[in-house]
Amino acid sequence: MSLTPISGRRLDESRPKITTASLREQKLRHEPITCLTAYDYATARIVDEAGIDMVLVGDSLAQTMLGYENTLSVTMDEMLHHVKAVRRGVKSALLVADMPYGSYQVDLNDAVRNATRFVKEGGAEVVKIEGGEKRAELIRHIIDAEIPVAGHIGLTPQSVNVMGGYKVQGKNLSGVEQLMRDAVALDRSGVACIFLEGIPREVAALITAEVEAPTIGIGAGPECDGQVLVFHDIVNLSFGPPAKFVRRYGDAAVLIAQAVRAFRADVKSHQYPSDEESYHLPKETRAGLETVLERKRGMRR
Ligand code: KIV
Repeated sequence: MSLTPISGRRLDESRPKITTASLREQKLRHEPITCLTAYDYATARIVDEAGIDMVLVGDSLAQTMLGYENTLSVTMDEMLHHVKAVRRGVKSALLVADMPYGSYQVDLNDAVRNATRFVKEGGAEVVKIEGGEKRAELIRHIIDAEIPVAGHIGLTPQSVNVMGGYKVQGKNLSGVEQLMRDAVALDRSGVACIFLEGIPREVAALITAEVEAPTIGIGAGPECDGQVLVFHDIVNLSFGPPAKFVRRYGDAAVLIAQAVRAFRADVKSHQYPSDEESYHLPKETRAGLETVLERKRGMRR
């Protein structure tokens, strides 16, 4: 009898499937958790095959993929389109889908319905929701529907208008206390992990020591249980000045621009395609064609 993985998906035999349970084990073992965003099939394959633990289809795709000014405009259907593509590219990593603005703030039943769509139609294994204490009840409802939830506190981009810009959170004592309350409320509601964005290193360290859920930091210092970055930021495809916490590991912008310019130059100078890059008629067809053409030429004379 062969064992089918629980998810029913084909696995990379050399790598165990990452699950919400294995993330917790990583926290206990102090083994750093790695997470990157991916928004399409090709990137998802690269990220998954490189051994990254979690792939996040972040609503940051609003900016990186769709060119919106911020994350507020992206819709459920747009997100779902990308989640499906990423699902097809990910085998071992845990797939997390970001609930877009408006998909969970208005109505609790709608929120559960939208989370269910990500799992049922998109193949996501976890959904991510921004906000702390005030989301605890909603998170319990989604977990009741058998859907693991990732929390996200600190600099939450969907609150950009309320925060008055993208500002580091938790810099004064009341801010620190609020973040601690948020983290503990999320932990008690049973979240699979908590994303900590744009908060002082010292606060992230306190939260990480306090909660059972693994913390995944972005601009939150090295004491978090794991780190996440936006894929486009680490390969210089974001077209803007990087935030303080971004480290660039490659320059895809230069690489792609070089390739595009070289293709253009080759076509303009008749260097592409070459004879080797062309298809040819089989010998017999070519001989037959030459006979036909010859006959036509003869008739014209
Ligand atoms: O949308 C996103 O990319 C995110 C990460 C920055 C955590 O939420």
